[in-house]
Amino acid sequence: MEYFVVAGGSPLAGEVHIAGAKNVALKAFVASLLTDEEITLHNVPLITDVFFMLDVLKSLGVSVRIEGNSVRIRNGHMKKSTVPLEVGARLRTSSLVLGPMLARIGKARIPNPGGCRIGARPIDRHIEGLMKMGASIAYHSEDGYFYASAKRLHGTVFTFPKNTHTGTETLMLAAVLAEGETVLKNAAEEVEIDDLIGLLRAMGADIRRRAPREIVIRGVGALHGATYTIMPDRNEEVTFAIAAAVTGGNITVRQSVRGHLGAFLSAFQKAGGRAEIIDETSTRYSQPGPIRPTDIVTRIHPGFMTDWQGPWALYMTQANGISTVHETVFESRFSYVSELRKMGSSIDFFDPPVDDPESFYNFNWGDRIEGYHQAIRISGPTQFHNAVLVMEDLRAGATLLLAALTAHGESYIHGIEQIDRGYERIEERLCALGAKIIRKREEKL
Ligand code: EPU
Repeated sequence: MEYFVVAGGSPLAGEVHIAGAKNVALKAFVASLLTDEEITLHNVPLITDVFFMLDVLKSLGVSVRIEGNSVRIRNGHMKKSTVPLEVGARLRTSSLVLGPMLARIGKARIPNPGGCRIGARPIDRHIEGLMKMGASIAYHSEDGYFYASAKRLHGTVFTFPKNTHTGTETLMLAAVLAEGETVLKNAAEEVEIDDLIGLLRAMGADIRRRAPREIVIRGVGALHGATYTIMPDRNEEVTFAIAAAVTGGNITVRQSVRGHLGAFLSAFQKAGGRAEIIDETSTRYSQPGPIRPTDIVTRIHPGFMTDWQGPWALYMTQANGISTVHETVFESRFSYVSELRKMGSSIDFFDPPVDDPESFYNFNWGDRIEGYHQAIRISGPTQFHNAVLVMEDLRAGATLLLAALTAHGESYIHGIEQIDRGYERIEERLCALGAKIIRKREEKL
């Protein structure tokens, strides 16, 4: 097992190039299952989740070639209908293969999806939609597999009961080769979904967003090969922006897409952060004055993303006053709180009064278990001291790494396989900006 040793206290300054978006790359791999021809993807981040997902494809007999940050995928021989448990259960996106497998071979057996431990994360909305398109799907609790089959998927009008990012993509990937027209209503609006639509269109699919929350797909007989460049990862950009602000440095982000960061940029400005436009694709982030407290409520797109709330909470520990963060998308995404407390932060849980929780929250209210809280109150500023920390999930991992960079002294961070899932060579890129991070391997006693 590896861990980080982080010596905090250095302002981070310089330039950083943002990697391709994890949450597009993983779905683009699945899209490649929809054709026999080659798909070439550029700007693929070299992160563990990408390798896990490529293992899912390989387990189905698909050939994969990685050349730098480009991946060539050819699905000439997809005959296998089972994703092995040890391969598929490692990441949530593996369930996306259901659609293409049903469309191409009429059956699929996939393990209950894994992914970050940030709540129950069921896929009921995906399954309901696929069944409306003609699939039969049953979950066998004795082996932990979903068994799915369909003679031919057909178009339908499906209204998602609540927002689901991957659920929207699952149905898109199923509908592009289905018979007839599919209309997805109350479809998710996250920008990563539109990048996937771009790839599907480049492959010959007839798919478009007709209204902000409506996607129309007309099934076609076959799709063809394509070459596509994955958009930059907006979660990385937010991470580097906050890194600049909390360490008192300035970071120029290249491959910046400010249009993807609306809710973040307005909150950043309220907190006294500065996002200077250098040119069309470059933004310089800094914190010219004191950090001001804020009240944040995470929301589905175009709201303040749930993925940003951990690093944001860390930012607010450095603000002068009381801040709050109310998580509404996932029912459990505060694993970093206990770790930040170890470093001296003052953070309390609370549950803001909500009239109708089932309609207010994006998760199923019934999935919430005793002891979960939906909001935190942060009293700042806190000068962190060093600590031994454990990353429980990817975004909590980014939060703790930033915290250690802000702290006095040397911190030890375990569980770094979590951050490796979603950030390419994170410590190298932070060190190039002046951070002091060493990756070490635990010695066996
Ligand atoms: N949900 C259900 N039933 C469903 C689908 C979702 O109850 O059938 C619940 C989830 O448990 C969650 C909420 O609805 O509480 C939202 O889930 P959604 O399906 O929108 O999220 P996701 O597709 O599982 C993706 C990203 C997440 C990101 C969210 C929100 C990928 C692979 N993952 O998750 O990214 O936080 O959308 O935008 O695209 C990350 O990158 O660290 C990450 C977790």
